[in-house]
Amino acid sequence: MASSPETNIMDEENSGSASGFGSDIFVMFSLTNLFIVAVLVFVFYKLYCKLIKSSIENPAIELPKIRKDMTVAELRQFDGTQHDGRVLVAVNGFIFDVTRGRRFYGPGGPYAAFGGRDASRGFATFSITPSNKEYDDLSDLNSMEMESVKEWEAQFREKYDLVGRLLKPGDEPRNYSDEEPDDTDHSTNTADEKKVN
Ligand code: HEM
Repeated sequence: MASSPETNIMDEENSGSASGFGSDIFVMFSLTNLFIVAVLVFVFYKLYCKLIKSSIENPAIELPKIRKDMTVAELRQFDGTQHDGRVLVAVNGFIFDVTRGRRFYGPGGPYAAFGGRDASRGFATFSITPSNKEYDDLSDLNSMEMESVKEWEAQFREKYDLVGRLLKPGDEPRNYSDEEPDDTDHSTNTADEKKVN
């Protein structure tokens, strides 16, 4: 059926405003996405600048390997501020020499809060805050958090040298002097299992 010229004009206006509304939503959606992307780019850029800055300030250091069990207090000295610049980090009861990753964990690095400390709880809770506990047995962490800690431990074992165990109060340090150079402890015991051992 043929429509009148007035009806045609109204149809065009209606369809015009409907597509206008659609394009408004599209523009808003695009702007939101653009904003999120901009924020992410900014965060990555800032972190990248920080890493570059700290790698310039803290050039790579090659130090002799050490094998030693330590208490939390002993570990704390190795935050990279000592004369040799060595940085150690504990994860899931094991201490690793992360001096190679000094740009991350050394002074001025984005993860300096973990240098000379037990980073397990931070890794479990995605929080970059220094652990001030004397000894953290991690017993209140849930299974997912413990899983995350173990994944970080596995990553550290691949990337960094194992130094020894983090001693809980009353534990005696092990003697590593007669150990073969590559005779490292590859067990991935949880905090609870370690209590038994
Ligand atoms: C906005 C959040 C975050 C961003 C954008 C970010 C980004 C990055 C980047 C770009 C690296 C360098 C990777 C490389 O060059 O190998 C890195 C390393 C690292 N991140 Fe994050 N990160 C974030 C949050 C966290 C959190 C919450 C934690 C821990 C609680 C964490 C722990 C680490 C650690 C330990 C490393 C160094 C790993 C190593 O020793 O190789 N990050 N991160």
